[in-house]
Amino acid sequence: MRAVVWKGPGKVSVDQVDDPRIESATDVLVRISTAGICGSDLHMYEGRTAAEPGVVMGHENMGVIEEVGSAVRQLGKGDRVVLPFNIACGTCFNCSRGYTSACLVTNDEAAGAAYGYVGMGPYRGGQAELLRVPWGEANCIKLPGKPGDELEDDFLLLSDIFPTGYHAAEMARVQPGTTVAIFGAGPVGLLAAYSSMLRGAAEVYVVDSVEERLERAQQIGAIPIDFRQGAPADRIRELRLQNPLVRGAMRKGEEKMAGVMCGIDAVGYQARDLDDPGREHPTSLTEQLVEVINPTGALGIIGVFLPEDPGGKDKAARQGEYTLPWGKLWSKGIQIGMGQTPVKRYSLLLRDLIAAGRARPSFIVSRRIPLQEAPDAYARFDRREPGYTKVLIKPQLQAGPAAS
Ligand SMILES: NC(=O)c1ccc[n+]([C@@H]2O[C@H](COP(=O)([O-])OP(=O)(O)OC[C@H]3O[C@@H](n4cnc5c(N)ncnc54)[C@H](O)[C@@H]3O)[C@@H](O)[C@H]2O)c1
Ligand SMILES: [Zn+2]
Ligand SMILES: [Zn+2]
Repeated sequence: MRAVVWKGPGKVSVDQVDDPRIESATDVLVRISTAGICGSDLHMYEGRTAAEPGVVMGHENMGVIEEVGSAVRQLGKGDRVVLPFNIACGTCFNCSRGYTSACLVTNDEAAGAAYGYVGMGPYRGGQAELLRVPWGEANCIKLPGKPGDELEDDFLLLSDIFPTGYHAAEMARVQPGTTVAIFGAGPVGLLAAYSSMLRGAAEVYVVDSVEERLERAQQIGAIPIDFRQGAPADRIRELRLQNPLVRGAMRKGEEKMAGVMCGIDAVGYQARDLDDPGREHPTSLTEQLVEVINPTGALGIIGVFLPEDPGGKDKAARQGEYTLPWGKLWSKGIQIGMGQTPVKRYSLLLRDLIAAGRARPSFIVSRRIPLQEAPDAYARFDRREPGYTKVLIKPQLQAGPAAS
């Protein structure tokens, strides 16, 4: 079969690799109908992880079951499924408590496994024609409808970034009436904004510098903040204090709450310096989050931070160590959540929200391509080119001008 293979920094190619096969009685084989390219893939693509060349990429996968192992009872050939990016056994101590992101069985080296990702076990990714799904009963979410129907792209986003955006909102304790600031208007940030609105947030601010992405944030009802125009924390406070409906509801002393109750980092360790976007400086973003969060608020750090970063600017960064305003966080009494999303905790209910017509996360999808265009799409997505906010690979599409 054909698959997208990582060859080294800045290089992927579409190669012929062996077809996957059923290796265990609990396996399921899926013919891929759609696979997403994710911001997380770019960390590997750029050589900013400990990955070795040869990884078959892709952790955002869906398709149709082609074959099931002899122990699989509840699923069968022809079922349409989406696959949460975490590979989980479903029964260990952590899976049993809903933390499929920290499964104790599926990865010998650490808690938690995934498809096509360094450090996440020996599993191939699904930017390919076929995918082996281990512990198939635990790792397939069944879908209604037919491949390629009008909900295909919405359902694909259940593999990672819709639940991830939702989990960010959960960690930041977004509830009806809350105020939210989200740094990063990539797919994750935009779906964190969308999820915040589904959860009833009153005001949602989205910070980035890429115009197309800020426009999308505005289209769904968020307030865009371009960080090139000044410190986002000051801007958000100003906007809130200038709003007579916000200001007019404050008693004396309550201006101390002119920031937001919920803060989300949807960028991670490759965040740009806010004053000099040409260079990386992840803690400049964290400092702004700490400034803008109100006392008693909560932060959801959904952007990735890794224990090893070969491209880190100094020894500390290469070991995943950062200097943070811990004292300010403590004084404000901030609750912080972080880590991989336990996708399955959310994907069933979010699936039903999509099926009922109450959520359409595919508004972020900007391009659909055949497999052979993946190398070009990686390069353009990596440059954050217009039109490349979220790229979906459709292995059954043929190359040519029809792809869009
Ligand atoms: N925790 C999880 O389980 C999980 C799952 C999926 C993705 N992620 C992570 O979420 C992050 C975002 O993913 P994505 O697909 O949206 O990526 P992306 O790279 O497309 O988006 C990141 C956005 O952040 C913007 N940005 C850069 N520096 C900034 C700054 N200082 N302030 C504000 N915005 C800034 C960029 O312009 C870009 O638009 C990545 O780190 C990804 O690895 C985490
Ligand atoms: Zn992803
Ligand atoms: Zn487990």
